[in-house]
Amino acid sequence: MITAEENDLLCRVEGGAPMGQLMRRHWLPACLTEEVAEKDGAPARVRLLGEDLVAFRDSKGRLGLVGEFCSHRGSSLALGRNEECGLRCLYHGWKVDVDGNVLEMPSEPPESRFSAKVKHKAYPTRESGGFVWAYMGPPAEMPQFQPPAWAPSPNAKIGVVKIHVHCNWAQVIEGTIDSAHSSTLHSTDMPSAEIDGAKATEAVWPRPSTDKAPRLKIQPTDFGFRYAAIRKPIMNAATHNYVRTTLFIAPFMALIPPNNVYNLSQAIIPLDDTNTMFHFIAWSDGDKPGIDQAAWRRFCAAEPGVDLDKRWRRIRTLENDFMQDRAAMQRGDFTGIRGIPNQDMAMWETMGPIADRTKERLGTSDIAIIKFRQIMVEAACKFRDTGWVIGRDGARIPHVKLHSFEGIVPKSADWQTLGVEPEELALAAAKERVA
Ligand code: FES
Ligand SMILES: [Fe+2]
Repeated sequence: MITAEENDLLCRVEGGAPMGQLMRRHWLPACLTEEVAEKDGAPARVRLLGEDLVAFRDSKGRLGLVGEFCSHRGSSLALGRNEECGLRCLYHGWKVDVDGNVLEMPSEPPESRFSAKVKHKAYPTRESGGFVWAYMGPPAEMPQFQPPAWAPSPNAKIGVVKIHVHCNWAQVIEGTIDSAHSSTLHSTDMPSAEIDGAKATEAVWPRPSTDKAPRLKIQPTDFGFRYAAIRKPIMNAATHNYVRTTLFIAPFMALIPPNNVYNLSQAIIPLDDTNTMFHFIAWSDGDKPGIDQAAWRRFCAAEPGVDLDKRWRRIRTLENDFMQDRAAMQRGDFTGIRGIPNQDMAMWETMGPIADRTKERLGTSDIAIIKFRQIMVEAACKFRDTGWVIGRDGARIPHVKLHSFEGIVPKSADWQTLGVEPEELALAAAKERVA
């Protein structure tokens, strides 16, 4: 349980809200590369931290992320013509380039110098791991761009599911770092089986445990925290544990346990206070077979044109009860809702646009969520009071070197070392010596 004031600090991201301002000091996933793949192609609407923007690739292949509304009188540039190295507003023809320069004002007399005086909003961008990234903070504080965990090399096979969620970002990320729910909410899609670790088939994710009440252990880190959910395995339960570690990478990413076919990550990006873009990324860098984009979207019931409209909004909504199939429930389906992310979204959206955390009753399986709130409320306060930005400080381990782990291990194994690269272990040891 947290206070209403703390809840606001955690959740609000618009305008001058400390959490949003803190996020602006990070590179943010703005849209998918596939949305702006073509030179002079259709622009893509982007909403980030309460701002409406539009992304486009110009005639030379350069990427722009500019304010959606024309500097002249505010018509949408998302409907504009993308031509000759700029985005042209349909109304009076003003044209802006990727840097926000106004190149042409056909409605002004030829001798006018007005265009030199107008600068349109434009943010720096990068491309990596299937995403266009944007930096929306003060230029002087722009951090060096680093590839995300799911792009360890240019050859990584990456599938991205992108879905608009109609609720605040914090309750979405709390779902991501809540291992306990998967044994219940996703029990149909994650059936228990006598196997040696998490698997993936075309239809389900079999799991080697029937234990619905994991014991949680947490380790704070420079990047956020790592936690283990420890369950009793079906096989060798007397001598072994089934351990799944999840990494929260502040402020908005998580690495969740892999399976035998692909690794998994999520990027939870606030569009505004009550809307979030959920990105679920499955990847492999040759360590596993991986899954291609189309198959990944099919598995998640998140195919554009089938399950989603062209702005990534679901056909399964709060209004239609997520198309819950009660007959399927009678036949044994636990939720009656198709697709693992859709099941999550049904839970997140029914909690309200911004969950009221003053009324909850938290139990022992909620300690990762409690830690997330503590860390992020404190980070928002510290940013507000001192300008310190979580996730940018300390001895940085590149995200591509961070890994989530899952497996059946002897009870004597130290969970904090599982799947961790030597570089990070050395850093942690050095820190302990200093402390
Ligand atoms: S509103 Fe865009 S050119 Fe006039
Ligand atoms: Fe889930």
